[in-house]
Amino acid sequence: MKGIILAGGNGTRLHPLTKVISKHLLPVYDKPMIYYPIQTLEDIGVNEILIISTERDLPLYQKLLENEEWGIKFYYKVQKEPKGIAEALILGEEFIGKDPFILMLGDNLVISDSFNKHVKQAFSNNDGATIFGIETNNPSAFGIAEIDGDNKVISIDEKPANPKSNIAVIGIYIYNNNAVNYAKQLKPSKRGELEITDINKMYLEQQTLKLFKIEDARWFDTGTIENLYEAASYIKSLDK
Ligand code: DAU
Repeated sequence: MKGIILAGGNGTRLHPLTKVISKHLLPVYDKPMIYYPIQTLEDIGVNEILIISTERDLPLYQKLLENEEWGIKFYYKVQKEPKGIAEALILGEEFIGKDPFILMLGDNLVISDSFNKHVKQAFSNNDGATIFGIETNNPSAFGIAEIDGDNKVISIDEKPANPKSNIAVIGIYIYNNNAVNYAKQLKPSKRGELEITDINKMYLEQQTLKLFKIEDARWFDTGTIENLYEAASYIKSLDK
């Protein structure tokens, strides 16, 4: 089972912490941030992971992970510039081959007893794309899915000014290998990025997008100092 972790970007919202080092190497309580998505993928059953990061940081990930006892084979790929999350699908083409895979954002932490079981199940039942939604009180900060009573997706918008719902699409996506061709067709958004939301919209148009609504998990996007701190405090409280 294959997974991709995207751990590049400039981390500008965390400056000066991320001025000389990748955000995903910062500690979240007692572990580097990237350990959490790796652990999630390992628990789901992923045994091959492609780590995508900047030219500057990739050697640090290689060093960090070379002697760790993960039951995982790691591959590495440089993203020269942060051109968007969906560029991971193009950079991952060779790694993906013909297989389905899970894309995970390196700054997303999901803490739950049951989540991994749901993702595993969704992976076996996936015939297009499966995304995961969770209620948020800050819907303008995320990809937002409008759903009907059966959790069927009606629309998705990236950081909407006028959100149609409060269901945030979290940074873990299951795709079949059509995602690579979809990514190649994308044009940069207004903010100049290849948007993962546009990939999900393409699956939605083809009626091959499923959404699983998470009810029993804590989810953190640790891209801001408040969230990073909150995630660390929460994990510390569990540790106790
Ligand atoms: O956290 C979930 C949200 O992640 C989703 O709800 C949004 O739909 C999705 O666009 C994304 O939004 P963000 O604005 O939070 O994405 P951010 O730019 O913070 O990047 C997320 C991660 O991906 C972060 O770990 C850095 C990495 N990244 C990002 C870009 C744009 C890269 O490695 N390369 C990139 O080019």
